[in-house]
Amino acid sequence: MDRALFALGGAWIVYLLSRKGESPFPPGPRPLPLVGNMFQIPQKDEWPIYEAWAKKYGPITYLTMLGTPLIVLNSLKAIRDLMEERSGVYSNRPLMAMKELCDLDWVITYISGEEHRIRRTAVRRYFSGPASVKHRYHQQQESRILVANLLKDPDDLEGHIKQHTSSSILLGTYGYRVSGANDPMVHEMDESFKQAEKLNGPLAFLIEKGPNLKNWPTLVSILGLKGMLDEIKRVFTACRVDPFMRTKQKIDDGTAVPCFVSTTLDEIASEVSLSPAEVKEKEEVLMDCASVMYGAATDSTSCTLRCFFALMSLHPIVLKRAQGDIDRVTEGERLPTFDDWERLPYIDAIVLEVLRYNVVTPLGMPHSTARDDVYNGKIIPKGSMICANLWLIFHDPDIFPEPNTFKPERFLGDEGARAREILNMVWGLGRRSCPGRQFAEAALFITVSSVIACFNMTPKPSPTGEVPKLEFYDGFIRRVLISS
Ligand code: HEM
Repeated sequence: MDRALFALGGAWIVYLLSRKGESPFPPGPRPLPLVGNMFQIPQKDEWPIYEAWAKKYGPITYLTMLGTPLIVLNSLKAIRDLMEERSGVYSNRPLMAMKELCDLDWVITYISGEEHRIRRTAVRRYFSGPASVKHRYHQQQESRILVANLLKDPDDLEGHIKQHTSSSILLGTYGYRVSGANDPMVHEMDESFKQAEKLNGPLAFLIEKGPNLKNWPTLVSILGLKGMLDEIKRVFTACRVDPFMRTKQKIDDGTAVPCFVSTTLDEIASEVSLSPAEVKEKEEVLMDCASVMYGAATDSTSCTLRCFFALMSLHPIVLKRAQGDIDRVTEGERLPTFDDWERLPYIDAIVLEVLRYNVVTPLGMPHSTARDDVYNGKIIPKGSMICANLWLIFHDPDIFPEPNTFKPERFLGDEGARAREILNMVWGLGRRSCPGRQFAEAALFITVSSVIACFNMTPKPSPTGEVPKLEFYDGFIRRVLISS
């Protein structure tokens, strides 16, 4: 009944606005026939363009790509009103047709509805809230290994960060420690990263708009898509099954260490009332969840750490103050531990400022709408892709004064409360917010404090003697370029 009323309301708005000659949709740049705004949507140096659109069109910019609405939310209020208050409508993921063609309807980051809820609950049980504390032992160990590797070979910063973030999440998930640059498990997981890029490109938009290719296998072959889709499926399946089976084998051999997979399998085994079919179903869900942890955790954490190193090298006063704080707590006798966390608020402030200064997902992770919605008298169609313009919010001088200055102290004390609260959005929104947040916060605290305790960091001198500027590779994830 609600839906029927809603549809009537939407139709009425379209009627009223079209009589007044107004578009029923939010404002945005004029689209071209068929392709929409595809050629206006920037692929590089996008921030000035999105900012100009926000100034011109207000809190919501409405674009279309090959018929799919792409809505960019530019104000704190619009983001909260829609993605948090109406989270039930705004928490789907877009562009599903190609993912379904590859049989990826088990990947938590792609799916929606009940299947998503079940998997999210499983992840949260082992990585969120109080459960996140059980990862601290190996997170601390990995931070010590990172420090030792940096001491041995300071030039391979990239490689050490990669090993550190991969090992931390693979230990937590499969009880697997990464051996070094050529680790076979990391290689296998990285393959799925490469394949995943194909799932959101222009081809995915085309497939989304076309007929349901699942019903047309011959057409898939004729279009030459079969090989590519099979390869994506093969790589994702390998990442799902192989590491899980290896951990299961270790349990059988008695060599498994506590981790997401081994602990959850123990729990399943201890539920004696479960039928064999129910056991199998629970194990499948666990296999699904475990396989996405690497992808979800490594890129985001590595990008944050790369940016941390770059910013520290450019801000010696911040570094000195942080070193002073750590020395006061540890008396310069030992490395920081989790027991010191509460007494090191400036370290937390540095982490928050790194996350703000170069927000790793500047347009958030795209959500999509489960049904038509109306906001401020305009229609947001079902299936729209919704992006929160976090970059704009985190660089709004009214919220974060001097936004282009690296100033961790903006997050300190009572005065920093509002800034801290707004920065929560860096972990995503509504029903999709990051279930690894507490794991990531702990990993960042122990890594950043250990590195600051041990190293002075300076930028590599440029040939002209100038202080180098930070350079970024813009994309869905914004990475600092580190020159070797
Ligand atoms: C600096 C580190 C990290 C940042 C900034 C970050 C941020 C995010 C963001 C923005 C999202 C998307 C939320 C949305 O769609 O609104 C997300 C999703 C997710 N993150 Fe994180 N994350 C980080 C680390 C981690 C870690 C360490 C883990 C695992 C332990 C993790 C697991 C996940 C998962 C599984 C999802 C998918 C949630 C879903 O679709 O329901 N993340 N994260």
